Amino acid sequence: MTLTRAVIASLVLAAVVLFGQKHGLWGVREAPAPPPPTPAALAFRRAQEEAAARAEAARAEAARLAAVTQPAETPEVLPPGEGREEVFGACTACHSTAIIRRSRFTRQQWDDLMDWMVEKQGMNPLDAEQRRRIVDYLAAAFPAASGSAGRRAPNPFLTD
Ligand code: HEC
Repeated sequence: MTLTRAVIASLVLAAVVLFGQKHGLWGVREAPAPPPPTPAALAFRRAQEEAAARAEAARAEAARLAAVTQPAETPEVLPPGEGREEVFGACTACHSTAIIRRSRFTRQQWDDLMDWMVEKQGMNPLDAEQRRRIVDYLAAAFPAASGSAGRRAPNPFLTD
């Protein structure tokens, strides 16, 4: 009787000990030290770091350019009116519209400017109908300021 109890008790004890071992209850098992990285793994890691650095540099360069690049002009920078598209098409090949927008001329002066642009600056000659539409638009959109025919718009940075 005592022997049977002793056998059962030791079996139970063995079961408990085995169960505890399987589930790591008796002491923490040391994790084996990871093997040192192979040369291939080191090279791969370095390549990854270099690629990340290049991507970061490209992002920084794109941000720098975005901060200093002006978006391309569209005809809408000019006041609306018949002939706006023609002016934009014919006049922005060599310079932006800024030089046009800051100018104030009479119709005659705009007309003479077309000759000057062709003869001195190398603009393609406009056919008669196109020229009329362009000059009409320019004279209407950028007329000479009254009392100062042909002068440019006053410079806002000059005080006298
Ligand atoms: C082939 C190139 C070219 C084209 C096309 C051209 N321009 Fe010009 N334009 C110039 C150049 C170059 C100047 C600057 C000349 C200078 O300042 O010596 C200029 C100057 C001007 C000026 C300033 C004139 C002044 O002295 O105040 C006006 C205004 C102007 N252009 C309007 C126009 C208009 C309007 C058109 C379209 C009908 C046009 N340009 C098309 C080359 C061009």
